[in-house]
Formats: sequence, C-alpha cells, structure tokens
Amino acid sequence: MIICKSSAEIEKLRRSGRMVRQVLGEIREQVRPGVTTLDLEKFVVKRLKELGAVPAFKGYRGYPCCLCASVNDEVIHGIPSDRYTLKEGDILSLDMGVVLDGYYGDSAITVPVGTISEAAQRLLTVTEKSLDLALEKARLGNRLGDISATVQQYAEKNGYSVVREFVGHGIGKAMHEEPQIPNFGHAGHGPLLKEGMVFAVEPMVNAGGAAVLVLDDNWTAVTADGKLSAHFEHMVAVTKNGPDVLTRI
Ligand code: MF3
Ligand code: CO
Repeated sequence: MIICKSSAEIEKLRRSGRMVRQVLGEIREQVRPGVTTLDLEKFVVKRLKELGAVPAFKGYRGYPCCLCASVNDEVIHGIPSDRYTLKEGDILSLDMGVVLDGYYGDSAITVPVGTISEAAQRLLTVTEKSLDLALEKARLGNRLGDISATVQQYAEKNGYSVVREFVGHGIGKAMHEEPQIPNFGHAGHGPLLKEGMVFAVEPMVNAGGAAVLVLDDNWTAVTADGKLSAHFEHMVAVTKNGPDVLTRI
C-alpha cells in the first residue's frame, strides 16, 4: 500500500529533507584532495548532534555509519573510511538520511573532488538532469512508470546505463515505504500517482554497463566494469499544484 501524507506530514518531511540537503551542502564544502571519507562521516556525526536530528542510516540493517560515501566506480553504500584519501579528479557520491520528529529525510548528491575530467562532469550533469526530468513527472494522473521511464530514457539517450539492483522508494515515517521506484520502466504503467504520495527518486547512472557487484564488506556496490557511476536523490511530494521537491532549500 502506498501511504498518502497530509499537508502537515509533508511539512515535516520537508523539514527533514531540507536538513539533509543543508548538511550535504556543508559536506560538499569540505570535499577536496587530502580529505578522507571518514573525516566527512565525523563531520556529519557532529553536525546532526548539533541540529538535534537522528541519523537514519546508522544501524539500518547493520550499516555502520551516518553517511554513504561512494568514490568513482562505487555506485552506492560506500562505507566511510580513513583508508581512502580523496584525490584530484575523483567523483564522490554522498548519501545521507535523518529522522526528525518521526519523519525521514533522504537525499544524495555526487560531487567533484577538485578538477575532474570532462567525461566525469558529463556523467554528473546527465545523472542530475535525469532526476530533475523525472521529478517533473510526479504529477496527479501520471503513473509511477512515467518517473522510471524518464530516468532510463534520458540516461540511455546520453550513452549511459541505469542500475537495476537498487531502486528509489516511498518515504515517510519509515525510510523505505512502498512503492519501489526503479530507474527503468515503461511510461504509462504502474500505480496512478495520488495527492500526498512522497517519493525518494534516486537515479544511479553508470558510464559503462549496468552490472554491479557488492564487495566483501557486504555494502559497497561497484560497477562490474570498473567505470564511473553517479547518484543523485531528491524527495518529491505529489500535490494539486504539481511536484513539490521537499529536498530543495
Ligand atoms: N539512500 C539510501 C536508500 O534510500 C541509503 C540507505 S542505505 C543505508 O536506501 F544502509 F545506508 F542506510
Ligand atoms: Co533513498
């Protein structure tokens, strides 16, 4: 069942979503060559304490940190570590979630470390654009497949592939609610979108093939061909007035 939220609940989700985005923006400022992903995790721990928010990821199915930090060919769920020092030209996906007043916020961005190649920049631009185009489809009367198909078509049109094994999700009083939101599918198919539905849409786009592997740490997903991958995530509410992106500040 897809849970529809009241406008009061949507405001709570907006508070959570904006807080995530605020902290992601602050992390982004610290990303530069020489910084470890564990430095970024420590910053998040401190910041969430100051803000009075509970981290959503730590302890979720045993995940050990508040932040997911995935470098280059890592797709998602990279575990922060002092064994990896960021270097010029890397791309870094930052995914973070909070619980505030019982409601979840969840968002992700992929950022450049120093100066990156034109090819890497194009992957970031296309992945973010695929998300923006998909969010536009979160409208009354559309179907879930319109969101999925939009990500897939835009990514593939640009020569990339979309990951099949991980998907977006409904979000509310739980981080993962129904429905699952694949980044591939068919326009005009799937459940009708209704007022009050809130989705976390999160394209994972690979520069090479779609296949991914999970490393021995049982978390880090990497591209099978070792090519770059990017990930962006926003929360969007379906409203009478169109898509309301709750993670925009
Ligand atoms: N944004 C991801 C998701 O929506 C991250 C959660 S995985 C966790 O599923 F284990 F790190 F919590
Ligand atoms: Co998510």
